[in-house]
Amino acid sequence: MARRKKIYEGKAKDLFEGPEPGTIVQYFKDNASAGNGEKKAVIEGKGVLNNRLSEFFMLGLQQIGIPTHFIKRLNMREQLVRQVEIIPLEVIVRNYAAGTMAKRLGMEEGTALPRPIVEFSYKNDDLGDPLVPEEYIIAFGWASQQDMDDIVSLALRVNDFLAGTMYGVGIKLVDFKIEIGRLWDNDFQRLVVADEISPDSCRLWDIETGQKLDKDVFRRDLGSLSDAYTEVAKRLGVLPSNVTHTPHKPTLIN
Ligand code: C5P
Repeated sequence: MARRKKIYEGKAKDLFEGPEPGTIVQYFKDNASAGNGEKKAVIEGKGVLNNRLSEFFMLGLQQIGIPTHFIKRLNMREQLVRQVEIIPLEVIVRNYAAGTMAKRLGMEEGTALPRPIVEFSYKNDDLGDPLVPEEYIIAFGWASQQDMDDIVSLALRVNDFLAGTMYGVGIKLVDFKIEIGRLWDNDFQRLVVADEISPDSCRLWDIETGQKLDKDVFRRDLGSLSDAYTEVAKRLGVLPSNVTHTPHKPTLIN
């Protein structure tokens, strides 16, 4: 089969031209990075886990009527998605203070917020994805006021779904990031959840022990990232509970 054309090389995913116009293949790599690419590693199996987990979350969202770019998973590392115009924002929803919010405001990590808070960063690696007020976004034409109202409502619906789903398996959803894409149907625009939803882009803490089951394990050197992601996948029933991530050497099957 002819090699598909690569159209984008990202830190954790590569994008290839899809089989039909308007489609893209997302390839999930094992690369992990933190601190805007300052810390890097290859975590064996991470791409496979994130491909499965993102499929699980995107399908769940679609089932409750939240539009996403997801079409179908193709294999262990690839999924077919609709080609969208990505709005250059990281849409972050926080239920508890952690990460940059805790640092910026001097709050203790884990402090419950009075309500879910939605914030926006401008997607730009060279600038370190700076936090931006809604007024900048509208003034600079990255999105309209109507888009922003729709994005906030989409983000809060995603939060309700993810928080409930995770609560059901004993995990607290501290915060997460999503990206939103525009889908055009002639002149009619629809906003959909795009990119990925995985433990790379969420903070997930065990409700009982507070153990971190997300990318902070890598960012803060807290142990095995693949063990953490495997635990999330097992609890959600995305992997059978007896699977371990331990990479196996090729074996001869008689
Ligand atoms: O670092 P910060 O506290 O702002 O992150 C908030 C949430 O957004 C975390 O769940 C983090 O994993 C996610 N995030 C992300 N990609 C980024 C920045 C943050 O997925 N570039």
